[in-house]
Amino acid sequence: FSYPDPRLQEELKRTAEAIVAPGKGILAVDETNEGIGKLLAAVGLQNTENNRRRYRQLLFTADDALSENVSAVILFDETVYQKTDNGQSFIEVLRKKNIIPGIKLDRDVVPLFLSEDEVTTQGLDDLGKRCAEYRRQGCRFAKWRCPLKIGERTPSVQAVQDMAQVLARYASICQSEGLVPIVEPDVLLDGNHDIVRAQQVTEVALATLYKALNDHHVFLEGTLLKPNMVTPGQGYPRKSTPEEIAIRTVTALLRGVPAAVPGITFLSGGQSEEEATLNLNAINTVPLKKPWALTFSYGRALQASVWKIWAGKDENVRKAQAELLKRTKANGLAAQGRYVA
Ligand code: 13P
Repeated sequence: FSYPDPRLQEELKRTAEAIVAPGKGILAVDETNEGIGKLLAAVGLQNTENNRRRYRQLLFTADDALSENVSAVILFDETVYQKTDNGQSFIEVLRKKNIIPGIKLDRDVVPLFLSEDEVTTQGLDDLGKRCAEYRRQGCRFAKWRCPLKIGERTPSVQAVQDMAQVLARYASICQSEGLVPIVEPDVLLDGNHDIVRAQQVTEVALATLYKALNDHHVFLEGTLLKPNMVTPGQGYPRKSTPEEIAIRTVTALLRGVPAAVPGITFLSGGQSEEEATLNLNAINTVPLKKPWALTFSYGRALQASVWKIWAGKDENVRKAQAELLKRTKANGLAAQGRYVA
């Protein structure tokens, strides 16, 4: 076998490296229509296409300083085709700011039959065609999330193997169409497990994933990893310090992620905004080897207070945009180990 032709390799690598440039990370706004509907309902708005557009317009038309800490944005299908009030396409707005547009490609979870009540993600059929279309629209990278649930008997071998195979097929198809794949094996925060168990499961998930990526000849220099941080389950009685989370997270990554991968962009997974920033900062200051960039690809941890301040009202747009910049700046500093609470 061989890797993609050298020109494509070079392009994929350049894009992946640009996304994880020092002090920069990803704004994940790829909530499904159902997902964003809950957030709209919380601010008293109906889940209409226009309301979804108004909210995302608020984010993308924030001050140009946004691009000092945001290199890339993950979009949902509908958003790729939406425009601002004055008719400029969102993709154009982002590209003018020097922000790279990307696309969520998984089509969400379905039950994994005869597993331990676990799930898989769908969306591989026609994926090549979808990748080509999004690339035509201006996207240069993609993401695909596959969750694993920690329980007494989970994740099962079936679920772990399936996660790795699905992500590897997705990554290979993305690269064939010129998109950088972000692979997202998400070991969920839900559960009562301790941090040691979270670390063990994360290590198994990563080792299995990178074996599958190798089997599918995925060019690692042109990929990014979007993992969970290693933390105790949300139901575990004792919280861990950012330092412990950092040591266990970087240790698990060192054991499972090849140094050829240019960057690791963490999901926030239900951590609070402040926790996600403090943990990222600790990860970047921990005295261990760090052969990859370590930064953020946060959804909730960049948007929770933006939603609160906006509250669905036009007169709050500027204040909400200022809050977004505050959050992205804090995480940009944390990505360099320079955040001070
Ligand atoms: P959170 O940071 O809210 O977990 O979202 C990131 C993401 O893209 C999850 O798939």
